[in-house]
Amino acid sequence: MKIKYLLATVLLIGSLIGNSQDKRSAFVDNLISQMTLEEKVGQMNLYNGFFDATGPVPDNQDTKNKYNQIKNGEVGAMLNVKTVKEIKALQQLAVENSRLGIPMLFGFDVIHGHKISGPIPLAESASWDLEAIEKAAAYAAMEAAAVGINWTFAPMVDIGRDARWGRNMEGAGEDTYLGTKIAAARVKGFQGDDLSDPNTIAACAKHFAAYGFAEAGREYNTTDMGLSTLYNVILPPFQAAVDAGVATFMNGFNEINGIPVTGDPWLQRDILKGQWGFDGFVVSDWGSIGEMVAHSYAKDNKTAAKIGANAGSDMDMEAYVYINHLKELVEEGEVKESVLDDAVSRILKVKYDLGLFDDPYLYCDEEKEKSMAVSQEVKDGALDMAKKSIVLLKNDGVLPLSKTSKNVAVIGQIAASKTSVLGSWRLGADDNSAVSVLEGLKPYLGDNMKYERGVEVWSGTEAFAQELKINEDNTDGIDEAVKLAKSSDVVIVVAGEHGYQSGEGRSRADIRLPGLQRKMLKKICAVNSNVVLVLTNGRPLDLSWEDANIPAILETWQLGAMSGHAIAEVLFGEHNPSGKLPMTFPREVGQVPLYYNQKSTGRGGAKDMVFWSHYSDVPNTGLYPFGHGLSYTKYDYSGLSITQQGNTFTVSVNVTNSGKRDGHEVVQLYIRDKYASVTRPIKELKGFEKVFIKAGETQTVQFTLDDTTLGFYNNQGTYIVEDGDFEVMVGGDSVNTQNGAFTRG
Ligand code: BGC
Repeated sequence: MKIKYLLATVLLIGSLIGNSQDKRSAFVDNLISQMTLEEKVGQMNLYNGFFDATGPVPDNQDTKNKYNQIKNGEVGAMLNVKTVKEIKALQQLAVENSRLGIPMLFGFDVIHGHKISGPIPLAESASWDLEAIEKAAAYAAMEAAAVGINWTFAPMVDIGRDARWGRNMEGAGEDTYLGTKIAAARVKGFQGDDLSDPNTIAACAKHFAAYGFAEAGREYNTTDMGLSTLYNVILPPFQAAVDAGVATFMNGFNEINGIPVTGDPWLQRDILKGQWGFDGFVVSDWGSIGEMVAHSYAKDNKTAAKIGANAGSDMDMEAYVYINHLKELVEEGEVKESVLDDAVSRILKVKYDLGLFDDPYLYCDEEKEKSMAVSQEVKDGALDMAKKSIVLLKNDGVLPLSKTSKNVAVIGQIAASKTSVLGSWRLGADDNSAVSVLEGLKPYLGDNMKYERGVEVWSGTEAFAQELKINEDNTDGIDEAVKLAKSSDVVIVVAGEHGYQSGEGRSRADIRLPGLQRKMLKKICAVNSNVVLVLTNGRPLDLSWEDANIPAILETWQLGAMSGHAIAEVLFGEHNPSGKLPMTFPREVGQVPLYYNQKSTGRGGAKDMVFWSHYSDVPNTGLYPFGHGLSYTKYDYSGLSITQQGNTFTVSVNVTNSGKRDGHEVVQLYIRDKYASVTRPIKELKGFEKVFIKAGETQTVQFTLDDTTLGFYNNQGTYIVEDGDFEVMVGGDSVNTQNGAFTRG
């Protein structure tokens, strides 16, 4: 095989040079030196897959073109190809037919599990459990690698502060510190220590940058932000991904300050590849290079290709503009060939690290594919992650339910769904593959379990690319639900968003429970005071009415394949919930974007007169603050102390489990830098520790604050630490804290 021949040549050179990095560079440089312009452009070309690769040459013209281009070495990577059989067939086309036999990358949105869907990323983030999050990504990688995929378009590390934005579900929430830790954990989980291990895959930090700040929370909308927010809020999780060794980056659909990020050399060349030293490659988002025309930034596709390549977008996902124009642009001198060489070298290095030059079929093992699809280990992992992701929002003593409870009603269309709880980005999982809430409850409630669907929430097609039809007027089912509620001791209402109401292209302007669910809840609460609301949703919701009227509320997000089991274990107290909100839940949609680490204004309150920063109709605060989450036990904080050694400060606090159950508590440390050369937020998370505390016991938790956590980025993008006064706040959420202070310098 040609590759083997190449490899032999290069290994020879490599053995003469020293370390593995040098060997890789020598291999890649040698390969590039043999490539034609067409072949270089080909490596920068990423196509959506087609699913009949194993058959004869396809009829459809577009597919036929792709097929022939693969054979000519004009396709560097494909996405959305699903099985070993298909991937192997396509890889074979590339490796055995093209002149240089360069293997392709196979990318896929492996976002929360693959075949066995895990909790949505926002849910995982609510666990604040970095080890579990890393493990979840590792399982997802194992599953994906078993079906031939070697590259995931994850993690999404965009910070999101606007509950209307549908893609909050895919991120780590509103906080940069938490987001930074989670970004690194996910990258490590997907990639492991060795990319060439057939159980690991290349990760992709996306969407570079600021995609989560789409104006008004409307998907694909403009983003506009000052440098302080960009440097301090948006960029750190991306930099953390680079530091964790992420192999690839994806840019986004948005513009920042008038420049589409896909065409922004400052972001991609100066910051990412320059200052941060990122040596992987940048893939565009789907069609985003071509969309620079629609952004009114490029005159036509050819100009878009020129801007994209020169700005450092190394690979074109499905815009077809590199394949159509890049060669000509080089010949005309509009794009230097060295730009292509740099891009191709980055792409080939990732292929090299994945081990594809040694074995293009490394990830194609049909036996493994079969065994992973039913892996008990992965299912157990998904269940563990699901339990850890659940947040107890409110509990006036109804929960946990007693295992001897008999007269328990379950109501809600979502309770019976084996699809909705899988979430949105679960393209590898089959419909109907989740354990529904009803199925999860069955072992506890047995044949006594009484169920009513209640009001219809959605009807019709449930599909990734289709708008879901929500019922806004048909009240059928409410009466039956109310009747059942009336005759029951306890009512579990499972309500919220369908999995396809959050995710890409799924912004919502009204963030209350969709459809007629609140209307039904009102009637149920009128006849039964023991209502437990089990929520499934992919974003913060406006739960003002629910909080005021329902005694127990459990936030379960969309927990994936093992949803029902995890929810039942928490409802019946077998698992003591410990999740904490990674996003503030507002009181009203009019408050968003709402986040805990706001800046103070010149007009704080409250004041006698109206001249302070507030709304006339709702408080400034959220309904449930960032970091909030209850437990079946109680934690008391006491004895905050701060000691100083030079510019290093040690903060310790005692946390006592004063309840009757053992549990995990996420102890959170916030600081406020009281004055600085760039204004600082009223509080910022700077540390957290998830600790297990037995009932009746006390643990002392310690945090260190030093120059790595006390500084910030100035408007030139330089990280600086300034002397001054700091406040320290430690607690189980961002509001109820023990407070202290110290002075640096
Ligand atoms: C999304 C990306 C995703 C890509 C490939 C785009 O629409 O924005 O996040 O990775 O599609 O599926």
